[in-house]
Amino acid sequence: MNNSAIGVFDSGVGGLTCVDELRKLMPGENIVYLGDTARIPYGTKSKDTIYSYAKQDIAFLEQHDVKMILVACGTVSSVMMSMPVFEDSRTELKSGVVVPAAHAACAATKNKRIGVIGTSATIKSGSYGKVIHEIMPDVKVVGMACPMFVPLVENGYTAKDCEPARYFAREYLEIMKKEQVDTLILGCTHYPHLSALISDIMGDGVTLISSGAELAKHALKTLSYNDALCSPQQQGKLELYCTDSEELFSENVEKLMSRDINAKISKCTLKF
Ligand code: DGL
Repeated sequence: MNNSAIGVFDSGVGGLTCVDELRKLMPGENIVYLGDTARIPYGTKSKDTIYSYAKQDIAFLEQHDVKMILVACGTVSSVMMSMPVFEDSRTELKSGVVVPAAHAACAATKNKRIGVIGTSATIKSGSYGKVIHEIMPDVKVVGMACPMFVPLVENGYTAKDCEPARYFAREYLEIMKKEQVDTLILGCTHYPHLSALISDIMGDGVTLISSGAELAKHALKTLSYNDALCSPQQQGKLELYCTDSEELFSENVEKLMSRDINAKISKCTLKF
C-alpha cells in the first residue's frame, strides 16, 4: 500500500483525459497534474526541445510526493522511446501512452487496419506503428498528423457541431475513411475531447481508442501489481498546476472534465 500521489503531465489540458479515467478507476488516489500551458504546443517542436521540456516536467512532479509518473502526452511518450527523459528520475513506476494504446488497438481491430492520429512530432516518430508491429506484424497502420486539433481543444472548440473543428476533422480523417480503418487511436491526449465529432465523421463501426484512458487503465494494473495502491479512503485530492494563466486553465478544466472536479488549481514556475 502506498498513499503517495500519482503524478501526471501534459503540455496542456490533454492529459486530463487520463486524469478523468484515473478518478473513475481509482477514486481514492491523490493526483498531482501539470499542464505546461506556457509552452504548449509540444507537438510542433523539435525532439531536443520536447526532451528538455519533459525533463523539467518530471523534475517538477518529483518535488511532490509521487509514487508513479504518467506521461499523459503522446508527443513526449513518442520522444521518450528513443531519448531517456527519465534518466535523472528517481521514480520507479512510470509509463507513457503509446504502449497501452497500441495494445488496446490491437485487441480491438478485426480487419487489421489501424489508424493513428497525433501531433506532427508523434506521427513523424512512427512510435505507435513500431509498437503495433511488435504486437501484430501483419497490421496496416495509417498515420495522420492533425496539428489544428490541439489549438481547437485548448480554446474550447470541441462540440460535435462546431464548424471550424468539423472542417479540420473532415480534412484529417479523409484518409482514415479511404483506408477503411476499423480502429482509430487518438494518439494525442487532447483528441478525446473531440471524440463526439471524430466518431460522427468516422461512423459507429470504428472503435476510438483514447490514449489517455488506456494509460489510466495501465496505471491501475501497474499499481495493483506492485502493491502500491492507496489505502481505501473517500475521495483522493486533485492538485492541478499550469505554467500560464490560471484563469484560462480553470475555465478549460471546468469545460473539459467530466466529473465534479473539486480541485486545487495553481500556477507554477518550472526550473530551467
Ligand atoms: N496532448 C499532447 C499529446 O498528446 C500534446 C499536444 C501538444 O502539445 O502539441 O501529444
